[in-house]
Amino acid sequence: MNGRGLAGTGSAGTDASTLVTDAVVDRVAELLRSAVGLRAEPTLRARMRRCIRDEIADNGTDAESYLRALTAGSALRQSLLNRITVQETAFFRHPEHFALLEREILPATRRPLSIWSAGCANGQEAYSLAMLLEERCITGSIIATDISTSALARTDAARYSTKEVSGLTTARVDRHLSAVGDGWEVTQALRNRVSTMHHNLIDPVPSRVRSCQIIFCRNVLIYFSPEHARIFLDRVAQTMPAAWLFLGSSETIWAIGDRYETVRFGDTYAYRSLPGSPAAVPRSLPAPSPEAPFRARARPTPVAATPADHDEAAMIAGLARSGQTALDAGHHAAAVVLFRKWAYLAPQDCLAHLHLGLALEAAADPAAALRAFSAARRALDLADPAEVEHAIDGYSIAELHKLLDAKQQEPTR
Ligand SMILES: C[S@@+](CC[C@H](N)C(=O)[O-])C[C@H]1O[C@@H](n2cnc3c(N)ncnc32)[C@H](O)[C@@H]1O
Repeated sequence: MNGRGLAGTGSAGTDASTLVTDAVVDRVAELLRSAVGLRAEPTLRARMRRCIRDEIADNGTDAESYLRALTAGSALRQSLLNRITVQETAFFRHPEHFALLEREILPATRRPLSIWSAGCANGQEAYSLAMLLEERCITGSIIATDISTSALARTDAARYSTKEVSGLTTARVDRHLSAVGDGWEVTQALRNRVSTMHHNLIDPVPSRVRSCQIIFCRNVLIYFSPEHARIFLDRVAQTMPAAWLFLGSSETIWAIGDRYETVRFGDTYAYRSLPGSPAAVPRSLPAPSPEAPFRARARPTPVAATPADHDEAAMIAGLARSGQTALDAGHHAAAVVLFRKWAYLAPQDCLAHLHLGLALEAAADPAAALRAFSAARRALDLADPAEVEHAIDGYSIAELHKLLDAKQQEPTR
């Protein structure tokens, strides 16, 4: 219970769950999408419905009064955000990022170091970074920001349960935590390195964080609509040139656009904003050449029936471009992942399957490449020839047929 009520709205004690209709969820989803970039995909919608129901019950109101108050009031909105946002996190989550940071980036970054933990949840990410700096005797600090005020309060409190610290080595627990009650408290030395700030990532980058050289924004953009993820990434690129950016490992590089360089260290990726890059515009792809036939090309954006269609078309174009960039850079596995997503989103698109096949070939997986070429051939047989020809301008359908036939006849090793 949050202890607040909406005066005069009546109906306390009503079983509010029956009142959270699809229309109510739609309105809240739209409000949160425009306010904080939240993408209301089906699992999140179910969570949203439960949270709205609980907020309505806690406030002793009904759905209509709640919606009116939510639209007008920031306290209610914050309360809903505190409930709806997902604070799943852990100390040294994605350990490969910390290893990469320690090995490759920290030695080459000027001091004092400053790191932005963007979407810090309950603070474990920020304190993991602080541990690393402390252990390496590096002068530096971490600014931890989040949209959730309850997450920030937990970060400030710096107290964790035994379960929450279970991922830390005994040496780290001994060095950085002290037992308090039935849990653990982070040492003052680490707490001195971490400061918190309430910040919505779709707002302009706050001046305090602009001087950070490293940004950890992991497992946050997955909750954003593609449009809002782009807004955030563009803002960072514009205001924080040459900053290192770490994203969650399930967050693909399609949204990264042309304003970041993808830097691969073994199997781990980090991104670097390109200094002085112009405003984000789609990269103009080179004309097809005999050596590189049918390069991924931004597909013409179809007339979008809905904003969601438009987002999907933009996402597909981004996947095609990023896949080609990865392939050009010799990052075959990454190209396979990107082209596979393109083919998954556009199974009718023969070029998606063709590119997947070419990337699989480059990744030395001839059997899977053959399957992709066969899928490309089937898609080509069903496709509108005019549309395909437009997409492969400079080539003819006959040449595409010839290429696919040849690919299907190559022996698989
Ligand atoms: C799953 S946690 C990720 C925590 C940590 N970065 C990690 O990878 O372990 C996502 C966090 O992003 C925050 N968040 C979501 N939308 C946000 C927004 N628009 N602005 C700032 N933080 C946001 C949530 O409150 C939540 O704490």
